[in-house]
Amino acid sequence: MKLLLTNEIVRFRKQLLYWHKHHNQRSMPWKGIRNPYYIWLSEIILQQTRVEQGMAYYERFIWRFPTLVDLAQADEAVVFNLWQGLGYYSRCRNLIKTAKIIVSEHAGVFPSQLEVLRTLPGIGDYTAAAIASFAFKAPYAAVDGNVIRIISRFMASSETPANQAGKKFYHKIAQQLVAPKASNQFNQAMMDLGATICTPYQPQCDRCPLQPDCRAYKTETTGVFPIKKKKNPLKHRHFHFGVFSNQTHIALTKRKTGDIWADLYTPWMVEGNDSLPAWPTNRVFSQESINPIIAKQVLSHQKIFGYFYSFTHPGKPFLTQHGLIWVPKNKLSSLAFPRMVLVFLKNSGYL
Ligand code: ADE
Repeated sequence: MKLLLTNEIVRFRKQLLYWHKHHNQRSMPWKGIRNPYYIWLSEIILQQTRVEQGMAYYERFIWRFPTLVDLAQADEAVVFNLWQGLGYYSRCRNLIKTAKIIVSEHAGVFPSQLEVLRTLPGIGDYTAAAIASFAFKAPYAAVDGNVIRIISRFMASSETPANQAGKKFYHKIAQQLVAPKASNQFNQAMMDLGATICTPYQPQCDRCPLQPDCRAYKTETTGVFPIKKKKNPLKHRHFHFGVFSNQTHIALTKRKTGDIWADLYTPWMVEGNDSLPAWPTNRVFSQESINPIIAKQVLSHQKIFGYFYSFTHPGKPFLTQHGLIWVPKNKLSSLAFPRMVLVFLKNSGYL
């Protein structure tokens, strides 16, 4: 795992904070505010909506409930009403719960310790760090998707935030980078840089203060980072279907549970590799064609290749073997089939 060197960290902070002070024009009502209650409200609202829309909610909340005690004592219906349009009401319920806990268990004083903040409903690592740094200047990095994107590009890191190890890595780097005496400025600058310059698509690298040291910029690979989760290669499976029929009936079997297509009907099915199986046919069945009809279907973790071999018989249905039952063709529409089987049956005139 590659970490950053001290001089790289110092330059990062310097360039970011200079940009924040002199060039970051983003104005938001909660910016620079030290009141932890207001910061908390803004962060919870911003988990639900974009900054432009969030501002109006924020203003309404602090106008209606100017203090934490006002919120804790509020009629819940009024709070829900103010929350309307933000969705995901469990966040709103947590807002009320946390306000009540702070009043009852912390004498109405918003906790400043990261560990204590983390115990409150609806406050996770990110929100706890945001409150601790914005309100109390505690030296914690608030790490969200924007921050991860900036760091992953800056380092051209092969770590993916899609797994726990990757998340831990980005937290560690962010914690190294955060300016210990100006964590509030640092976190705000990172959020704004991620939202306005180091955006997911078409980042504006020419305006970025980190450009001189950004590895992704230097190698023209910003679009690659953060690395997406590696997809598991799809398992390939080869299903051979022996479709035995006469003029009126077709031989089918119902699939057992424990694998794909449980309880669906298929013709006689043999799972094999991509070479032809030897169907144990007897002379009374004639094979319609030497070459099977081939179908493909991609499921979430596997790719299925289907090979359909048709065998017909002019006489009556014969005895059952291999779990097969003889089904009248005019009853087929009442049964459920895997998609590739259904398509085959339709295209081949069975259904
Ligand atoms: N998103 C979440 N918190 C934010 C903040 N304080 N400023 C800008 N965007 C944010």
